[in-house]
Amino acid sequence: MNVKKRIAVIPGDGIGKDVIPEALKAMEAAGAAVEFAHFDWGADRYLVDKTTVPADGFAMLGREFDATFVGAFGDPRVPSNIHAKEILLGMRSKMDLYANVRPVRLLDAELCPLKGIEPRDVDFVVIRENTEGVYGDLGGVFKQGTADEVAVQEDVNTRKGVERVIRYAFEFCTASAKADGSARRRVLMCDKSNAMTHAGGLWQRVFKEVGAGYPEIEKQHVYVDALAMQMVRDPRGLDVIVTNNMFGDILTDLAAALQGGMGMAASGNLHPGRTTERNIGMFEPVHGSAPPLAGKNVANPLGAILTAAMMLGHLGMSAKAGKIEAAVLEAVRRRKTTSDIGGALGMREVGEWVAERIAGVS
Ligand code: IPM
Ligand code: MN
Repeated sequence: MNVKKRIAVIPGDGIGKDVIPEALKAMEAAGAAVEFAHFDWGADRYLVDKTTVPADGFAMLGREFDATFVGAFGDPRVPSNIHAKEILLGMRSKMDLYANVRPVRLLDAELCPLKGIEPRDVDFVVIRENTEGVYGDLGGVFKQGTADEVAVQEDVNTRKGVERVIRYAFEFCTASAKADGSARRRVLMCDKSNAMTHAGGLWQRVFKEVGAGYPEIEKQHVYVDALAMQMVRDPRGLDVIVTNNMFGDILTDLAAALQGGMGMAASGNLHPGRTTERNIGMFEPVHGSAPPLAGKNVANPLGAILTAAMMLGHLGMSAKAGKIEAAVLEAVRRRKTTSDIGGALGMREVGEWVAERIAGVS
């Protein structure tokens, strides 16, 4: 019987194509029971035949694969970014991957731009609603080109959408621990309900209602602007954060800076609780395609490698995931890294070092 997990690999554009092979190497070095199928979705394919997502593409990923592993999308040759939108945002919304889980963990004090902050001070998770909000593309432009032009971008918040992501945040808090083994114990909901009263009101009500079912978990509410300040003033005490699509997008770039920049941040796009589909979700490093860095062997592969570990963890291979994470930690401590986080190695050399470390050679 073939017990290997089938992974759909979509490197995409720019440095996505550079870093993904390094992450595949890490999974192989860990001896993970996985097999890969590669897909060419991205700018190159779009420029050839105008295909963003092939017909039946998302259904095929759902049906035939256990998980999807993605690089990055965005290419200056496609200024509209239509392919990025249709592939990445399409996957999130059409595959209904409603929870975007973005762990924020500082591996080494020197990677943090804040003074006096140690690894134990930065170990939190942002759970970003991933299918609604202003990302729904509802709205329109009216009287375009006239002095009376109007652009409307609707912010959609459904009871179902808000409730399921908040519930997942509480479940996540219950089930997961920090890197030092201590339990997570607080869920912070962040919104802007002092100005966006309709949407914020719904988030507030649902947070109270769902939270009542988790008496052992501490609840906290912070407005998004204040949370942005808190993240850079003192991130200690942040634990599980749940928020909408847009705020989650912005806060996770800020949060990535706390852990060494975009090159270090991992993410998983999940539909917790679904049993009707084989595919458990889409995993992608948080960084973009960074076209100026592409093909130069300089991109930091650690975000992609940590994302691979996260994926293995969700596929029931926690021990393999742990091995990969330990090797990344060691690479960071010994500065076997790219220059963005203080090392002097090229991307492939970092990937090689990590793979060898995982396999127990170095
Ligand atoms: C992210 C990215 C995307 C987003 C872009 C590429 C549409 O910034 O994954 O955070 O806004 O969600
Ligand atoms: Mn973003």
